[in-house]
Amino acid sequence: MVKIKKTVQELDPYIPGRSNEDLARAYGLDPDKIIRMGSNENPLGPSPQAIESLKKSLHLINTYPESNIDDLKDKIASYAGVNSEKIIVGGDGADEILDVLAKTLIEPDDEYIVHPPSYMYYEFTFSIYGAKPVYARWDVEENRLDVNSVLDAISPKTKVIFLCTPNNPNGGLIEKKDIQTILESTDALVVVDEAYWEFSGKNNVELLDKYDNLFILRTFSKVMGLAGMRIGYGIGQEKFVEYMHRVKPVFSLIKLSHIAASATLNDQDYINKSTQLSIESREFLFNEMLKIPELKVFKSYANYILVDIRNTGMKSKQMTEKLMENGIIVRDCSSFRGLDDYWIRVSVATIEEDEKFIDVLKKILG
Ligand SMILES: Cc1ncc(COP(=O)(O)O)c(C=O)c1O
Repeated sequence: MVKIKKTVQELDPYIPGRSNEDLARAYGLDPDKIIRMGSNENPLGPSPQAIESLKKSLHLINTYPESNIDDLKDKIASYAGVNSEKIIVGGDGADEILDVLAKTLIEPDDEYIVHPPSYMYYEFTFSIYGAKPVYARWDVEENRLDVNSVLDAISPKTKVIFLCTPNNPNGGLIEKKDIQTILESTDALVVVDEAYWEFSGKNNVELLDKYDNLFILRTFSKVMGLAGMRIGYGIGQEKFVEYMHRVKPVFSLIKLSHIAASATLNDQDYINKSTQLSIESREFLFNEMLKIPELKVFKSYANYILVDIRNTGMKSKQMTEKLMENGIIVRDCSSFRGLDDYWIRVSVATIEEDEKFIDVLKKILG
């Protein structure tokens, strides 16, 4: 056996949400009837315009993707309200942008700051490059970032600080003034992950005019309904983005993803409808779960809700299994650093599916 590098030998596997096929096999279910409330996807399905343009483009897959994607960058730039030199597009979603950030910045023994509980892929990617996590704190009960814990975690070795707003898995927001305080306290790159910003109506793009060390991360997997096409983007300073382009895989954004992203951005009605439907579903789920005394629910600005289920007497593993037996997937959050065995995350679905979920949940709780 060849010698595997140490960081890979020591890597904890990343645990993603489970697929319909996987669950259908395990629980003897019809994969088409499974209700997906585990991966923060778009319950509306993709934009009809994206589907149409994909159908028309299928014959193009014998050729390499465009190496010049300026047309898409221009559209993203105009959607985000910046110039297109600030944009980098990833072909394995925002996850690829994280990998490119690590490739661009990380040297062994560098440190990066994360605020558990948060998106676990930051640690998964950065640890491969030999960077060391330093933990700040998200106050789970208050559902807010402990800003001082971030400031205290900064050292001369800090290369990157991750701030996720709305935060995954609890949907809490980080206030703009707190982001500014952090930006002003360091030369490290502050990555503000806005994967879910549309559901909150709040973003931090304007801060790019003032701070050189800000980078914003976004995705087409959520409100844009294209999780399966794996498209993400970053917004940073022109010079920094140019360095990132040097190490980004050239053809990672495949032609079909390029076309689907472009068509979705043309379909502003779809984006508005998706946002509205997800917010309606979130508020419906929040209010219904609030009525169930055994559950503790947290106000969310994203397309999911974190739920503390310890008063049900069940652990999240048991609860998610029971829901799966009824054809409903929610996220067991026990693999999230900073949470114990009693948390689930429920993503928005259609109101009809939400009602079914609430019924099943009540039945499980007797
Ligand atoms: C906070 C956050 N950032 C980034 C991502 C990655 O998104 P993508 O599907 O574009 O890789 C996710 C995915 O769930 C996420 O929750």
